[in-house]
Amino acid sequence: MEIITKPETETLFSNGINRIPVSFIREILKVTADPEMISFAGGLPNPALFPVEEIKNATIEILQKEGGNILQYAETEGFYPLREYIASRYQKRFNLEISPEEILITNGSQQALDLIGKVFLNPGDRVLLEKPSYLGAIQSFSFYQPEFLTIPMENDGPDMEKLNESLSLNCPKFFYCIPNFQNPSGITYSDSKRKRISETVIKNNLLLVEDDPYGEINFSGENLPPLKSQVGNRGILLGTFSKIVAPGLRLGWVVAEKSIIRQLVRAKQASDLHSNNLSQRVIYQYLLQHDLEDHLNKLRFNYEAQCTWMLSAIKKYFPKQISYTEPKGGMFIWGKLPKGYSAMDLANETIKEKVVFVPGNTFFVDGDGENTFRLNFSNTDKATIEKGIKIMGAILDRFLEGD
Ligand SMILES: Cc1ncc(COP(=O)(O)O)c(C=O)c1O
Repeated sequence: MEIITKPETETLFSNGINRIPVSFIREILKVTADPEMISFAGGLPNPALFPVEEIKNATIEILQKEGGNILQYAETEGFYPLREYIASRYQKRFNLEISPEEILITNGSQQALDLIGKVFLNPGDRVLLEKPSYLGAIQSFSFYQPEFLTIPMENDGPDMEKLNESLSLNCPKFFYCIPNFQNPSGITYSDSKRKRISETVIKNNLLLVEDDPYGEINFSGENLPPLKSQVGNRGILLGTFSKIVAPGLRLGWVVAEKSIIRQLVRAKQASDLHSNNLSQRVIYQYLLQHDLEDHLNKLRFNYEAQCTWMLSAIKKYFPKQISYTEPKGGMFIWGKLPKGYSAMDLANETIKEKVVFVPGNTFFVDGDGENTFRLNFSNTDKATIEKGIKIMGAILDRFLEGD
């Protein structure tokens, strides 16, 4: 009789799953469970600013009003009035005409990234990324086994020469970008770069995947128009309630032309049928009863104060060899050690003294960025920011001694 041996589990895993880089940030978040640890690592919004009472009241009201209906299965596309609300905000903010049918509600914009990978990518397809780029997007796309091509970032957006060069040599499926207060670099595209990129997208018939979780956390309150308003159907725009209301609700959205939405809906049905119906109804109730603009002004005011505080602590305590961005929005400051130094080695030192941040090479797909690091300022109060940056400064003095 033939004996069938069971294969080692390792051999059963798919090629795709083995391609997903493990998130150093998620790993580091485990370290931050230590209450004494000062964390500048995660991209977490400030929980003190979550509208807890308002969400509680909205939940009670909607459950009282609708009863079991809202605990039922629901449409894959998402709650229609919520999609109408999102469309009307684009109209109000940018005069951008979008119909609710061009919007799909997702389980955070993270799910949108995965669905885009599912809908567009075959193994070996090329994807253009900013260098550095958002780790969660690198993870999502990696499962579908594309080849990543990267475009270096300048202070006002991607290097256009490199973008054009890459487009002339390759035929990427899409360009994934984060034009406002990029995660991780904090960079925002200038008006002229927005215009040039839009022209390039149209000329090359390129598909643009524009991820915009931070555009509304602009300290000045100014609206930064999405590239989608210039590239029309060549653009897929992602939004989320994570940074502007609360990430635990897990609600984001995709804006795209209807034929793309249809495919994304198909992919979403295969993934999770629909996003959490209770969350959608609660947030809609909350938005009906409150002016989101008031809440956003509160966020902007507080995040600007936290950012300013971190920048002045950096000025005070970091050695002058460290360069860093001075963002006007979002949640991150991006720093650079002199060439040849490793931010991972630095993190190993700071963790010993209970301060943690993210070494920047996590955000590069080509092994670069060893001397870069990301600091989050939104989830730490002023006194803790001062304390943590002071500790980092003292470690940096030792670390760079003799340089
Ligand atoms: C650039 C970017 N895209 C997408 C996400 C995912 O956000 P969520 O799934 O919470 O909407 C994040 C979260 O940090 C992000 O920084």
